[in-house]
Amino acid sequence: MQLIASPRELVSTCRQWRRQDEDIALVPTMGYYHAGHEDLIRHARGLAKRLVVSLFVNPAQFGPGEDLTSYPRNAERDAAIARDLGADVLFAPEPADMYASDHATWVEVPDMAATMCGQRRPGHFRGVCTVVLKLFMLTGADVAVFGRKDWQQQAILTRMTRDLNVPVRIETRPTVREEDGLALSSRNVYLTREERAQAPEIYRGLCFARDMAAQGATDASLLRQSVLRRWAERLPLGRLDYLVVVDPVSLASVQEIRGPALMACAVRMGRARLIDNIELAQSPDR
Ligand code: PAF
Repeated sequence: MQLIASPRELVSTCRQWRRQDEDIALVPTMGYYHAGHEDLIRHARGLAKRLVVSLFVNPAQFGPGEDLTSYPRNAERDAAIARDLGADVLFAPEPADMYASDHATWVEVPDMAATMCGQRRPGHFRGVCTVVLKLFMLTGADVAVFGRKDWQQQAILTRMTRDLNVPVRIETRPTVREEDGLALSSRNVYLTREERAQAPEIYRGLCFARDMAAQGATDASLLRQSVLRRWAERLPLGRLDYLVVVDPVSLASVQEIRGPALMACAVRMGRARLIDNIELAQSPDR
């Protein structure tokens, strides 16, 4: 595996591959790998002749007061994992390699970014879209893989890609969970023992709503209230950021479940902000 820090070198490596008619898969990451990242990389390995994994804690997607400086990092271990899983290149630039001091161009999907995580993290998805578009441009990737835990992120990136005719196919992978249901996240390391013990209630609450919907409940506000009541009892250390029922593709709010619907949430537990989601009805083929 080649370790590349320079965007220019990444471009020339990928150009060389394309000249040889070799297709390219990309897995954008911010590092501190867990089994969820490993699943993305393993899946991407099977999609193309060449595999680029990027490792970049993107400052543009962190707001003031967020955890940019304390975001967990372990570049050496991440590089070993990427290599063992068959990456051809690990692209690990410095912020100055990605953003000139007078960087002024941003990519936004404002409506889809105005809801859910975007409401609490203004500018977050602008930072995500901008860096991911840069990675698409630098690699010319044919396919890129993202996790469905960050459902809003993959929905926004899918829309951005379509709107800007970026010739990349986006594939998504299911959320990887601990045995007790907690969605894997690099930020789970922030949880205290007491918070960790309660955190699986987040997913249990979502499953409760899914089961109610499967039994015929269609009123999104009733489902929300049922989950909130459950969390009030079983998740006292959690502070709700949001719990919504939305259209899985447009992220528009859903009141009455008549087709595909997604319940998504963010819950703060101490220093951690945990996001999760569940499909309440089967999404259309994407
Ligand atoms: O999901 C992430 O880890 C990041 O948002 C991404 C897609 C790598 C962009 O920085």
